Amino acid sequence: MKGIILAGGSGTRLYPITIAVSKQLLPVYDKPMIYYPLSVLMLAGIKDILFITTPHDQEAFKKLLGDGSELGCNFQYAVQHKPNGLAEAFIIGEDFIGRDKVALVLGDNIFYGNGLVNLLRSKTDITGASIFAYTVKDPERYGVVEFDEARKVKSIEEKPSKPKSKFAIPGLYFYDNKVVQYAKEVKPSDRGEKEISTINKMYLDDGMLEVGVMTRGMSWFDTGTVESLDDATEFIRVLQNRQSTMIGCIEEVAYLSNFIDKERVKKLSKRYGKSKYGNYLKEIVEIIY
Ligand code: G1P
Repeated sequence: MKGIILAGGSGTRLYPITIAVSKQLLPVYDKPMIYYPLSVLMLAGIKDILFITTPHDQEAFKKLLGDGSELGCNFQYAVQHKPNGLAEAFIIGEDFIGRDKVALVLGDNIFYGNGLVNLLRSKTDITGASIFAYTVKDPERYGVVEFDEARKVKSIEEKPSKPKSKFAIPGLYFYDNKVVQYAKEVKPSDRGEKEISTINKMYLDDGMLEVGVMTRGMSWFDTGTVESLDDATEFIRVLQNRQSTMIGCIEEVAYLSNFIDKERVKKLSKRYGKSKYGNYLKEIVEIIY
């Protein structure tokens, strides 16, 4: 399975913070936001990852993440010229995806929780589509899924003004190769975007959409507003300091996923100097493993 991280968009809801800096490079506590969704794909065992950014931000992402070889991965880069919607990721990424299946994660979504690794790994050989549902206070901000009494999906709507349920769809999607064809058939919505929800509805109409409810044991943050960004930062700070482990540490994840060995982690730790992050990497090599 291939992976795509969509890190485009203009981040207008975070202005003035994102006037000169890409949203997905902003810090979420002690590391750039993009480390979190990247580590999610790596935890799923995905090594081939395409980063889709705005044209002007691409260099900064390359500077931060390189070609991925040091992490035992293969990172590629592509550009989304205008924020035309999430579905466009599969058109931009068509050659990269080739004949494979593909996971898409949004560059501003953070996932953490019990059972996440097993959940992710169970999706990498999907036939059809697999997405998630998560109860939130403000479903109107998201794609919303409605279930019937038997927990079968009844409807999917993008940012409905009157949501039919509290179940928002997080920005993590697993698809078979048909997604490329479906993406080409998507017409722009009223807000002028090719919506991922339209793709999900196509799979639903085909009877090939699976929606897993992420329960209390799982935390999902979307960091698109100042409040949600601050919430995510606070969450990561409290949890990391209490448990003395890091969330979204890509070198640790590469090591745990058997992409790289201990010696490589040691080498990579030097890049981070005397920072907290660098010290953590040195510690895990020496103490824990
Ligand atoms: C996008 C999707 C929406 C999904 C959300 C998750 O919204 O369109 O369906 O629930 O991501 O973060 P956007 O980021 O475009 O507001």
